[in-house]
Amino acid sequence: MKIKLIYGLTFTAALLFTSCNDKKEPKQVSEKITSNEYQGKPINHDYDAKIDSLIAQMTIEEKSGMLHGNSMFATKAVERLGIPELTMADGPLGVREEISRDSWAAAGWDNDFATYYPAGGGLAATWNTELSYLFGTSVGEEAIARDKDVLLSPAINIIRTPLGGRTYEYFTEDPFLNKKITVPFIVGVQENDVAVCVKHYAANNQETNRDFVDVQIDERALREIYLPAFKAAVTEANAYSFMGAYNKFRGEYLCENKYMLTDVLRDEWGFEGIVVSDWAAVHDTKKSIESGLDVEMGTPKPFNEFFYADALIEKVKAGEIAEADVDKAVKRVLQLMFTLKSIDDKGPAKGSINTEAHFQDAYKIATESIVLLKNEKGQLPLNTQNIKSIAVIGNNAKKKNALGGFGAGVKTKREVTPLEGLQNRLPETVKINYAEGYLERYSKTEKAKFGDITLNGPVTIDELEPEMLEEAINAAKNSDVAIVFAGSNRDYETEASDRASLKLPFGQEELIEKVLEANPNTIVVMIAGAPFNIENISHKSSALIWSWFNGSEGGNALADVILGNINPSGKLPWTMPKKLEDSPAHATHSFPGDQSVNYTEGILVGYRWFDTKNVEPLYPFGYGLSYTNFEFSDLKTDKENYNQNEVVNVSFSIKNTGTVDGKEVAQLYVSDPESYVEKAAKELKGFKKVEVKSGDSKLVNIQLPVKELAYYNEVKKEWLVEPGVYNLKIGNSSKNILAEVSININ
Ligand code: BGC
Repeated sequence: MKIKLIYGLTFTAALLFTSCNDKKEPKQVSEKITSNEYQGKPINHDYDAKIDSLIAQMTIEEKSGMLHGNSMFATKAVERLGIPELTMADGPLGVREEISRDSWAAAGWDNDFATYYPAGGGLAATWNTELSYLFGTSVGEEAIARDKDVLLSPAINIIRTPLGGRTYEYFTEDPFLNKKITVPFIVGVQENDVAVCVKHYAANNQETNRDFVDVQIDERALREIYLPAFKAAVTEANAYSFMGAYNKFRGEYLCENKYMLTDVLRDEWGFEGIVVSDWAAVHDTKKSIESGLDVEMGTPKPFNEFFYADALIEKVKAGEIAEADVDKAVKRVLQLMFTLKSIDDKGPAKGSINTEAHFQDAYKIATESIVLLKNEKGQLPLNTQNIKSIAVIGNNAKKKNALGGFGAGVKTKREVTPLEGLQNRLPETVKINYAEGYLERYSKTEKAKFGDITLNGPVTIDELEPEMLEEAINAAKNSDVAIVFAGSNRDYETEASDRASLKLPFGQEELIEKVLEANPNTIVVMIAGAPFNIENISHKSSALIWSWFNGSEGGNALADVILGNINPSGKLPWTMPKKLEDSPAHATHSFPGDQSVNYTEGILVGYRWFDTKNVEPLYPFGYGLSYTNFEFSDLKTDKENYNQNEVVNVSFSIKNTGTVDGKEVAQLYVSDPESYVEKAAKELKGFKKVEVKSGDSKLVNIQLPVKELAYYNEVKKEWLVEPGVYNLKIGNSSKNILAEVSININ
């Protein structure tokens, strides 16, 4: 057995510790602290006998109808047996507008307006599990109000490359944060009798060649990085449905991958729900049904031509496919319907949509998602008492993002833009001088703006119009303060293509530089869902904010942060690299591959790579400033030695030493300095967002189950915790570690 030296004392805080000179007794924080604070209800088996008798009465044609799209977002009903369609709707930004039954065209309803919620990156940047639950309950109420059984959300693939077209839609580069945001979201949605559809299972980390690329990941990285949130979606949240991804994994398409769909998902994790294909992701009737794919959905073609339609019926009749395999899938669909109460006793209409209450839910999430990257001269929050005019510059000040690009958006009656947010919140004494500054323009030579599955993504025109630049410079010169709203939008960051580079599109870098020269009192606000190369801009500006495709109330939330009505508390859910080549998939030249892509960086994804390889990021994972300051002190664990099945109770105090109230995200990272296997320099294993009033201290507890320290042993196919010393590090970003203690695991 391996022996490790125990160094450091469990009960003493380490060198970097700030001293606590607070006279008040620290207050106990009341947050829920167990690792399974949100737990979903399992599939209901009370109706299994009834389901068996229904299946016994069904023809193979009826069964097939229940297993494939008979319209764009629904399966076929079996009316004579009282079985309804299974109805679905996208997606991650809110309930998508109604789509025609047989094409991608909008159905043209006038009652399908919905709340536009912050995109996934924004939700993850809150680092607030309660807000994730709020998001889930709120969007779940909207989905049931639209009579949907399945909401095609959350999208939880790990952000492997900053170029990823769906980075804005996904949560994070870190598996722990990923699962902690995923689980409450699912529980919230499903409490409304709506199933989530957790997507895209799995290893769908790039859009380039997504229809055929064969992803190779070693088993350890798969288990430690890419699967934990999917696993927690089953074992903690009891997700009722999963979506099989487009791509291949180890030679097999994900929608016909027995290892992933049956061995791991059902046999290991105990999944009892249904697996739905991504739209047109099925390639082989027999392989899919035998691998555990239940429902085939797709893009327009005659519905009888789906793999699970005529072909399935013929193959069953010819004895090539066992009818028992079809029955298994039908049974799962019926079990889901009974669990959701969408069959038999449907009861009165439920839910609500497009309501003020839901807009306010979106607002709450948005307020905690915004990340303050830089505030060197204390320009923020903006004191409007000394200001008569503000230059508001940039196309993004007016750009709306509820719809756009390729993929699911939301038809909404409310999307407050950044400019409108300022107009709503600024006193009348302050004049706004607006200048668009840059145009969102794409190259005419490009085949199509969206939808081409290409490495290059949309090709932009990056020259500024001289008159527009001049107008922006004049606005900046003639105003007390300038705010540039830059970044990207949902036409540029889009499903179905990755970006070609991290360069700011449309000539924005030049615009920002010129505005900074014209008025040193300039605040730069980036609105984007994914990292960009902002090293130069960040170097030149003294006040820098990061916001997201941030939902119906995004502009109000942003104005409230700029004006100090809200103290920012968002933290980056991914690393902002100085340059693309610093990111692991690019440093290892293993993106995007061709027919096949090999994730050669293994477990060193995101900050794990930057830390372990000593590469300096521009802004680290977990980073974000506040208008106040926090001191961490008195880091302790409840014991020094732990057995493998115990929980480490980590406690410390956080003091707000500034003059305004604020929220801080305390982050617990763990290092295993003497491991026998390769490990990242540190890994996130706990976090807690706490609100501390100015001058107050709070005692914070984080529960760390020892099992969280396990690594995946590929030979034994087991999670193992190596005995010995582990260093627990508390900080407010992955780089800014403020205190450290050691524990020993027996
Ligand atoms: C996307 C899914 C989406 C589906 C239906 C696919 O192209 O990958 O995320 O749910 O379309 O709109």
